[in-house]
Amino acid sequence: MSAALVIFGATGDLARRKLLPALFTLHCKRSLPDDLRIVGFARGELTHADYCANLWAGMDGYADLTCRDDVWPSFAERVTFVQGDLAHAEDVARLERTLADAERGQREANRLYYLSIAPQLYAPAVASLRANGMHEDHGGWRRVVVEKPFGRDGASAAELDNALHAAFDEERVYRIDHYLGKETVQNLLVLRFANAIFEPVWDRAHVDNVQITVAEEVDVGTRAGYYDASGALRDMAQNHLLQLLTLVAMEPPASMGADDLHREKARTLAAVRRWRTPQEAAAHAVAGQYDGYLEAEGVAADSKTPTFAALRLYVDTPRWQGVPFHLRTGKAMAAKSTEIAVQFRAPPSSLVNLGGGEPQANRLGLCIQPHEGVHLRFQVKTPGPGAEASTRDLEFHYAQAFSDQSIPEAYERLLKDALMGDRALFIPAEQIREAWEIMDPLLAAWEAPDAARPRPYPRGSWGPAAADALAAETGHAWLSTCGEHV
Ligand code: BG6
Repeated sequence: MSAALVIFGATGDLARRKLLPALFTLHCKRSLPDDLRIVGFARGELTHADYCANLWAGMDGYADLTCRDDVWPSFAERVTFVQGDLAHAEDVARLERTLADAERGQREANRLYYLSIAPQLYAPAVASLRANGMHEDHGGWRRVVVEKPFGRDGASAAELDNALHAAFDEERVYRIDHYLGKETVQNLLVLRFANAIFEPVWDRAHVDNVQITVAEEVDVGTRAGYYDASGALRDMAQNHLLQLLTLVAMEPPASMGADDLHREKARTLAAVRRWRTPQEAAAHAVAGQYDGYLEAEGVAADSKTPTFAALRLYVDTPRWQGVPFHLRTGKAMAAKSTEIAVQFRAPPSSLVNLGGGEPQANRLGLCIQPHEGVHLRFQVKTPGPGAEASTRDLEFHYAQAFSDQSIPEAYERLLKDALMGDRALFIPAEQIREAWEIMDPLLAAWEAPDAARPRPYPRGSWGPAAADALAAETGHAWLSTCGEHV
C-alpha cells in the first residue's frame, strides 16, 4: 500500500507553520507510513529545492527538531512540489499525472487531499478534483481534509456540504477542528470516563456552573484580512468552544469509536437550548473589541467585528437542566489560557468553622493549555489550634508527571488519524449543522445593520466589564483556575 498526502495551498501559512512541521515530527518519530509521499501544490514558481528550503525555514521554532538535520534529507525525499493553480484545469490535470506516475505499479495507492486554502476555494477545488476523476476510490481510497471555517453560517455550511458531497461521501470528508487533536482535550473524556469519582457528581445535582475560557494574548496580527470578516464567534466559538462544551456535557458514548462518539456529541449539541430570536441571543451574550483593533492593517475603519465574545448557554438534558455554561474567548487578553472550570455546589456551612467566611465550593480546573493539567480545589484544615478551613488546590501537571515526554502537537495526531482512516477526532456534518444553529441567531444580532458597537476593552485585560455582568446575572464570576498556582 502506498499513500500520497496532497496539500493544496502548500506554501501557505498553515502548511508551513503547522502541517509540514507536524509531518516532519512524525517522520522523526518514525510514525509515518514508510511509503507516504507528500505532494505540495501551490501557485508559486518553485523548484523542489526551493520548496524544501522554504519548508526547512518554517520548521525552526515550530517542529520538534530534536532529530534535526540528519533526518531532514530522508524527509525531503518524500516531498514533491507541483506548481499550479486550482482554477486551471490543465494544472490540476498535471497534478493528476504526477500522482498517477508515482502510483504506477502499486497494488493499492491511496490519497489524502488536504485543503489548506482559502475557504472560498474549497468548492472550486473539489470541483476540479471531480472534473479530473481524482475523487474516485479506484485502486485505493480518496479522502479529503477540510479546515475550518465550515461556512459562515448554517446556510453557507449546507452549501459547502453539498459541494463536498458531490465528490466525496460523508465518510470520506475529514473536517478538522485542531482543538480535538490536543492531548488535554482528549484527556477530558479519559478523565470523565476512566475514573469512577467524577461521573457520579457530573450533573445538575452537584455542579453549580461550568465555565469555558479560551483566552489569547495575541491580537489579530497579520490575519486581519481573514479575521475582520469572521470575528470571535466564527473563529473560535462555533467550533472550538462548542466542541469543548460538548466533551464536558455529553453522555457516555457506547464506545470511543467514531460512530458512537459522534452520535453522542451531536445529541449534546442538539440539546443546547436555542435562542429563538436575535434579541434573545443578544441578551445572553457580550461582544467586545480590544482597543486599537480598528487601527490594525486590513480592518475596516468602522468595523464592528467582535474580538471577544462571552455567552451563556444551557444544555437541556436531564443531566444539565438549569446549569449555566458560560463561555468566553478573546484576542489581546491578559494571558493565553484555555481552561474549563467545573464549579461544584457549596457544602453545608454549619459543621466547619470557616473563619467567618462563606463555605467554599469544590472546583475542578481542566487546564487545556499552556499549563496542561488538572487542578482540584478543596478545603483543608488550617494548621493550628482552631478548626478553621482553608482552600487549596490538588494539582496534576503533565510537564512534571510526564517530564520525559513532550506533548504532541494537535496536527500530528490529526494527520496520522486521517491517514489511518480514524474519524473519531473529526467533525461530521451533523455537528457543524447543530453548531451553526446555535450561533446563527447571535450572528444575526451582532451583524444587524443597527447592531450596537462591541464593547471596547483594554488590551491585556479579561474583556469588557459587561462580560462580568453577564456572569453575575446568574450569581457567578469568571474563574481563572489554571494560572494561579503554577
Ligand atoms: C484558530 C483560530 O482556529 O485557533 C485562531 O483561527 C486562533 O484565531 C487559534 O489563534 C488558537 O489556537 P491555539 O491552538 O493556539 O489555541
